[in-house]
Amino acid sequence: MAVSDLHVAYPANRAIVEELRPESPDDWLLVAGDVGEFVADIEWALGLLAGRFATVVWTPGNHELWTPKDDPVRLRGEERYRHLVEICRRLGVLTPEDPYAVWTGHGGPVTIAPLFVLYDYTFRPPNTTKEESLAWAHRSGVVCTDEFMLHPDPYPSRDAWCRARLRETERRLAERDPAIPTVLVNHFPLVREPTDVLRHPQFAQWCGTVETADWHLRYNAAAVVYGHLHIPRTTRYDGVRFEEVSLGYPRERQMYGMDGAKAMRPVFPEEPAP
Ligand SMILES: [Fe+2]
Ligand SMILES: [Fe+2]
Repeated sequence: MAVSDLHVAYPANRAIVEELRPESPDDWLLVAGDVGEFVADIEWALGLLAGRFATVVWTPGNHELWTPKDDPVRLRGEERYRHLVEICRRLGVLTPEDPYAVWTGHGGPVTIAPLFVLYDYTFRPPNTTKEESLAWAHRSGVVCTDEFMLHPDPYPSRDAWCRARLRETERRLAERDPAIPTVLVNHFPLVREPTDVLRHPQFAQWCGTVETADWHLRYNAAAVVYGHLHIPRTTRYDGVRFEEVSLGYPRERQMYGMDGAKAMRPVFPEEPAP
């Protein structure tokens, strides 16, 4: 099963998370980021899910990497990420820093690879610079909160952090058993196409990196799981299934008449998207 963007600071979302249960005691749950912003909230949600599912796999979203001004945990950037990884280890939750687990149930064997590759502003309009694209966003008032809350320390920028994560993740993926297909789990879409339907095209520059455009082929993905866009749907690129599994915000569900209780979706067996 997979889900993302639980955003548990919202009481309505917290209530949905409290009802997330496996259908079978053998079910694994892939959590593709944006559990919350406060360390205590993230720990609460992952701890609850780890107690219910046979295995929980987590990868960070941008919201986990914020340093909100009223969170007593003041860590920033890489240190904050490493702190969350330590919490996951205590809870028995797998992270991008752990050996990749192999799922041998329905659809297996597949190597479950949680990725943390962030974004580098390359999902911007063609023939523009990062500076021009950011200026366009600021002019139109559509600026991702990451610009103020997601500190890349010790890297000089979020795109520099992204480049470091790309190299590290490529190294890890190269070490896997190439005979076994993968399920790639990343908060951000690995290909750009899902951002074509964003209501505000300015937002795409905070949604991924062109460096991962062929990873679903290069790493023999049986499926790719992502979130961040809050547009749950199934699409295929080069014949590979991509599942956007966001719960998203209560106001979005209200606006689009979506049932939050159905946000968690099976990766295997494949099921028609709602
Ligand atoms: Fe989100
Ligand atoms: Fe996100």
